Amino acid sequence: MPPGRLVTFEGADGSGKSTQARRLAADLAAAGHDVVLTREPGGSPGAEEIRRLLVSGDPGRWSAETEILLFTAARRDHLERLIRPALARGATVISDRFADSTRVYQGAARADLRAVVDRLHCDMIGLEPDLTLILDLPPETGLARGLARESGEDRFEDMGQGFQHRLVAGFRALATDAPERCVLIDARGAVDTVAERVRRAVEGRA
Ligand code: TMP
Repeated sequence: MPPGRLVTFEGADGSGKSTQARRLAADLAAAGHDVVLTREPGGSPGAEEIRRLLVSGDPGRWSAETEILLFTAARRDHLERLIRPALARGATVISDRFADSTRVYQGAARADLRAVVDRLHCDMIGLEPDLTLILDLPPETGLARGLARESGEDRFEDMGQGFQHRLVAGFRALATDAPERCVLIDARGAVDTVAERVRRAVEGRA
């Protein structure tokens, strides 16, 4: 893979993307790449503080509109302080979630606000990943896995089964809309099996 690339993992809660992001980062680092593994919301001290406001508490704590502003504020800080400097020195940045999560969670699944999300993204972020790996799992499987974790960060899992269905559909639609950078990965099966699918997708786009 050439240096200075942004690779993102996306998918509904419980799709296994954090495990796969860690795995890809370790494999690329072992192959000698300068790799920065990060996540959203978070990835910088300020964005991690905003994360705490977003992922816990009552599902109705924030409106979809307020969430868009908070996620975008966190992303802007992450971009300024971690992503852009790492890309500038030629690193491969692997982010567990990025702007596609806002497009799908706030722009499609919670409310029909995709145009607002896109405008704010254009004004405040203005960066698209070089490659996006979307981990695809049937909605029931993902929700059960996500809740079983008991992470204390279940605010979005608590939005229920209908929400989970809209998320999975939203990510599938995104893969169809942006095929130049998105690859839909079948996330069913063992961690090693899925990791092999990820590896092939990354090599295919190198
Ligand atoms: P995580 O569980 O993958 O760390 O993500 C935290 C939660 O935040 C997850 O339920 C998805 C949600 N989220 C959004 O709703 N919009 C966003 O833009 C991002 C980055 C995450």
